[in-house]
Amino acid sequence: MLSEEQGGQKTAATGTMARATGKLGVMVVGLGAVATTMIAGVEAVRRGLAKPIGSLTQMGTIRLGKRTDNQSPLIKDFVPLADLNDVVFTGWDIFEDNVYESAAHAKVLDEKTLEKLKPYLETIKPLSAVFDQYYVKRLHGTHVKKGKNKRDLADQVIADIQAFKKTVDRVVMIWCGSTEIFLEPTAVHQSVEAFEKGLESNDIGIAPSQIYAYAALSQGVPFANGAPNLTVDVPAMIELSKRNAAPICGKDFKTGQTFMKTVLAPAFKARMLGVSGWFSTNILGNRDGEVLDDPESFKTKEESKLGSLDYIFQPELYPDLYKDIYHKIRINYYPPRGDDKEAWDNIDIFGWLGYPMQLKVNFLCRDSILAAPIALDLVLFLDLAKRAPELRYRGIQEWLSFYLKSPQTAAGLYPEHDLFIQSMKLKNTLRHIMGADLITHLGLEYYD
Ligand SMILES: NC(=O)c1ccc[n+]([C@@H]2O[C@H](COP(=O)([O-])OP(=O)(O)OC[C@H]3O[C@@H](n4cnc5c(N)ncnc54)[C@H](O)[C@@H]3O)[C@@H](O)[C@H]2O)c1
Repeated sequence: MLSEEQGGQKTAATGTMARATGKLGVMVVGLGAVATTMIAGVEAVRRGLAKPIGSLTQMGTIRLGKRTDNQSPLIKDFVPLADLNDVVFTGWDIFEDNVYESAAHAKVLDEKTLEKLKPYLETIKPLSAVFDQYYVKRLHGTHVKKGKNKRDLADQVIADIQAFKKTVDRVVMIWCGSTEIFLEPTAVHQSVEAFEKGLESNDIGIAPSQIYAYAALSQGVPFANGAPNLTVDVPAMIELSKRNAAPICGKDFKTGQTFMKTVLAPAFKARMLGVSGWFSTNILGNRDGEVLDDPESFKTKEESKLGSLDYIFQPELYPDLYKDIYHKIRINYYPPRGDDKEAWDNIDIFGWLGYPMQLKVNFLCRDSILAAPIALDLVLFLDLAKRAPELRYRGIQEWLSFYLKSPQTAAGLYPEHDLFIQSMKLKNTLRHIMGADLITHLGLEYYD
C-alpha cells in the first residue's frame, strides 16, 4: 500500500543487499588535518569518549511512512552500513609522520584528546605517496614513490591496495590530499584506453590524484574526492567506475562558506528576492591555506566554489533577479588562525520594487571539524553503494552531492546544489534501495 505524502513511487524492494559483515578498510590519500581529525574522531567515538556530531550516518534518522506512523529509525539501523568498530584505516602521505604526529601538527584536536588516542594513532603510518610538485607547488614531499613512468606508479598503488585487501573484507578510498593545480580534461581523459596509454607516456594531464583514483577504480574500490581536483570528473574514470562496480561521487567537501551559500541562496530564490552581489572572503592558516596561497591551486578551489550560485539561481530563468550578480571569492592564507577559519560574506539583495538590502554572514568555523564527519559519511555511503545492487554499477552516485561543493552528474544534467533538495534526494535514495516508499511531502491524505 502506498502511504501518504509520497508520489506513488513504491520502489522495487530489494532485501537482497549484502550485509556489512567483516572489516571495512579505508585507504586515505593524504593524512593531514581532515584525515587525522576523522581517524582520531572515529577512535574517540568507538571508545565512548565523544559523540559523532555532524555525521548523518551516525546521528541521523529517516522517516518511513506517514507522519502519523511515528517511524523514524536511525539511518544506520535502516540501511546496512559498516559499524564503526569494523572500520580499519590506512593511507598515504608525502611526509613520514604517523597519524598521531600529523594530528599534533595540524592542531585541530587538543593535546589532552590526542594523548588518550596516541597508542592507536601511532600505529597508522603512511605508505609512500605518488607525488609530483608540478601539481602542488607549495609542498616538498620526501616520502614519495619512485617509478619509471606513471603506469609504474599506478601499479605500485595497486600493489598497496592488494596488500591491504588481504587484511580486510572491503575497501574504499578517499582523497584527503592537497588541492592540485587547475587542470581541464584533455584527450587523455576521454577513455580508459587513452588514459592507460597516457600512464605509459607520462602524459602531463594525469595528476597524482588520478593515479590513485585509477588504481582504486581498476580494483573495484569506490573513490571519494574531498578536494576540488579534476580526478574522477572525466569520461575515463566514469567508464572505469561503471565497469568495475566502483562507485564515485562529486568533489570538494562542502563545509564552511559554500555550505552556508547553498542554504541561503535557495532561500532567496524561493522567495523571489534578487541578488546583485555576493562577496565571500576567508582567512585560514593551516597547510590547506598555505597550498591554496599558490594561484594555480587557488584557481582549482575558486572554480569549485563559484559554481554553486549560478546553478541555484538559474539566471536564464530569472534574469530580473539574478542575471547581473557580481560573485567574488577570496581565500587568504593567515597563519595565526591555523585550522580555525573565519569566513565573511556580504550579500547585496533586493526586494519589492527593487529596494536594496544587505545580509552579512560571519562564520567562525573549524575547517576540519566540519570536514571530518563528511569524509566518514562518504566512506560509509560509498561502501553501501558498492553493496547495493541498484547502485553499484551506476558509476556516479549523484545522491551524495549533499556532501560536496562540486556535485558530479550524468552528462548533460545540471548539478543540484540546494542543500535541502540534496538532503531529500539522499534520503529518498536510501528509502529506494531498501524498498520503502519515497516521501514527496504532498500529504493531501491528511485532509481527506
Ligand atoms: N577542511 C575543510 O573544510 C575542507 C573542505 C573542502 C575541501 N577540503 C580539501 O581537503 C583536502 C585536505 O584538507 P586538509 O585541511 O586536511 O589539508 P592538509 O594540508 O592538512 O592535508 C593534506 C595532506 O595531503 C598530503 N598530500 C598532498 N599531496 C599528496 C599526494 N599526492 N599523496 C599523498 N598525500 C598527499 C599532504 O602532505 C598533507 O598531509 C584539501 O585539498 C582541501 O582543500 C578541505
